[in-house]
Amino acid sequence: MDKYLKSDLENINELLEKVKNNACTFLKDIDEIPTFSKDSKGYNNSQLNQEGLGGEKALEEFIERFYKGIVSSAGAKYFGFVTGGSTPAALMGDWLVSAFDQNASGRDNSSGTKIEEETINLLKQLFGLPQEYSGAFVTGATMANFVGLAIGRQWVANELGFDIAKNGMYNLPPIKIISAAPHSSILKSLSMLGMGRDNMHYIPSINGREAIDIKALENYLKQNNGTPCIVVASAGTVNTVDFDDLKQIRELKKKYNFFLHVDAAFGGFAACSPKYKKLMEGIDAADSITVDAHKWLNVPYDSAMQFTKHTKLQIQVFQNNAIYLGELSENPDFVHLTPENSRRLRALPAWFTLKAYGSNGYQEVVERNCSLAEVLSKKIEESKNFKLLADTRLNVVCFTINLGDHSATLEEIQQFLKIVNEDGRAFFTQTVYKGTPGIRAAISNWRTEEKDMEIAWEVLNKAYKFYLR
Ligand SMILES: Cc1ncc(COP(=O)(O)O)c(C=O)c1O
Repeated sequence: MDKYLKSDLENINELLEKVKNNACTFLKDIDEIPTFSKDSKGYNNSQLNQEGLGGEKALEEFIERFYKGIVSSAGAKYFGFVTGGSTPAALMGDWLVSAFDQNASGRDNSSGTKIEEETINLLKQLFGLPQEYSGAFVTGATMANFVGLAIGRQWVANELGFDIAKNGMYNLPPIKIISAAPHSSILKSLSMLGMGRDNMHYIPSINGREAIDIKALENYLKQNNGTPCIVVASAGTVNTVDFDDLKQIRELKKKYNFFLHVDAAFGGFAACSPKYKKLMEGIDAADSITVDAHKWLNVPYDSAMQFTKHTKLQIQVFQNNAIYLGELSENPDFVHLTPENSRRLRALPAWFTLKAYGSNGYQEVVERNCSLAEVLSKKIEESKNFKLLADTRLNVVCFTINLGDHSATLEEIQQFLKIVNEDGRAFFTQTVYKGTPGIRAAISNWRTEEKDMEIAWEVLNKAYKFYLR
């Protein structure tokens, strides 16, 4: 055995203790750690040594060269993208995932896959999904959308008498995909699936909103004359958390022949609160559903779920047949359900956090985040420096800077956000909402409280004054 491997094995307790101390320091200081990294020192590519350093020295080098560049994106004042942190219990689970290093691909390998099945079951309860859905963990909502659309693609082909999984798409007419405000990852998935980004058929939204105009959708489906197609519904758009009316889409599904994929990456968590769960009514009509765990479930990155009612089609697409991997049975291994073959036990952090905080815990996080979005929204409404670009629904505030004589261009928004984000106390990202450049504040971290919104507001206003100098 290599001498460093041997000594690290002998000293594993001390090494992990050191790692734990570093992690705990980070978590203790997270409120003070910048949300943005200006540090570019230490990123020169180092050479691979012939002789290793051993774990302790590797840790020292990492801390010295890279720690300063680690940002508090998991902290309370990071409002970019849709970013959760990691709850204490999720972190406990995540550490164990690496320590145990199970391959969650086959059901008989270990209890790993049982944990995944149980976690999927807990999540179905959290989201109020009927038992008939099966589910699996993937790396993120992009992958969950990819899996859902792959199943939808197979469904359309089957309806037309083709089997894409076996024969490819060579003899198939273009598959129609229909949506109003799909997330960019839906288009990326269309590209990856050979369906083509340009084959998205856009249906108008309701005036002044991002939700699909149901009449326009029905007209499209009528004219489509029964040709099987895929409708992608949004349960929480990224700019305004708008929901397509799933109840009405459920009614359309009784009349028209389409596969319904619902991207509920973070909007799905509306189901956790009696106040918002109406938005998810009709979700049971979905043929496949995407929900992200590394967003509002607040587990570490690399975690999302895809749910479907069409496990058979899913197996047609994703089966991975090799004798050494085991037989394809009635209750197929995860290796036959998702793009990956070997898989990390990424359900475990979700299991830990669900067990630790239960549905009440998630109701509290969702409602607190949404009420903080309302707090920010109210401040913006009352301010001369900023204005809302849309009504605030749930946890995202979409707004712009007030420049008086003209509306801010994307370049101006970028210059403004550079000042904001370089402050390091809060972080926001740019967007374009219905053609107007703006700023998004997505509040989805379990730590965020009113005091954090106060600091964020101070940062925004300080930057505004600086910008206008
Ligand atoms: C609605 C929606 N779908 C999909 C995604 C993609 O998520 P991921 O980054 O986990 O792939 C996002 C990310 O913000 C999203 O908001």
